[in-house]
Amino acid sequence: MNTAPLLVAPSVLSADFSRIAEEVETIRTSGAAWVHLDVMDGSFVPNITFGHKFIKDLRPCSPLLFDTHLMVTQPERHVEIFAQSGCDYITVHAEASIHLHRTLQLIRSCGCKAGVSLVPSTPVSMIESVLDIVDQVLIMTVNPGFGGQQLIPATLRKISELDQIRADEGYDFLINVDGGINLRTVRDVASCGADVVVCGNAFFTAEDRAQFVSDMIQAASEEKRR
Ligand code: DX5
Ligand code: ZN
Repeated sequence: MNTAPLLVAPSVLSADFSRIAEEVETIRTSGAAWVHLDVMDGSFVPNITFGHKFIKDLRPCSPLLFDTHLMVTQPERHVEIFAQSGCDYITVHAEASIHLHRTLQLIRSCGCKAGVSLVPSTPVSMIESVLDIVDQVLIMTVNPGFGGQQLIPATLRKISELDQIRADEGYDFLINVDGGINLRTVRDVASCGADVVVCGNAFFTAEDRAQFVSDMIQAASEEKRR
């Protein structure tokens, strides 16, 4: 298990879009490490959010790492334009890209870090043959599409399984966990091996966002020391 401090990645999905630059600035001042950007197309998932123009316009507003989560069908068609918009990580769904290996190579060839994501019903075995070419695996702990849902407990063992494979094979990808993460569930995912956690609702509804981030990091480190 990676014992480095937990990275917190607030998802702008739960931000007030009418004040988006200010909201993204609070991600920086809270001490969070990454900005998580949920792109939804109304086809792979029921919801529609925003596209590459939104990310391009936000890029000068924040020095933080941009972690873009593409919940779109055939993501390979959009990789280049998202890379040009200033994303650092581009994560695609294994369920959405038939030639997943090629898509991940394309992301890297565009100068970005490559991530692969799994919805709750997809087993880890589906991505075993691409784990040597990914920079992160994003485990969905809710069915993607909406913020503010409850974590599905059955997804936790996939985090442990990935952590074990990573240790056995000597891989160095990060394990990012997305959906229903709060001060309670962060303990469970950290003890299973999460390195990064996405939080939308919990971050944006916290009374004190900086306190929230520091409490999350503290809770995760207590679990990893156990
Ligand atoms: C869900 C998105 C998540 C979402 C998480 O489809 O991928 O990133 O914003 O939101 P919370 O933390 O509220 O579950
Ligand atoms: Zn996400």
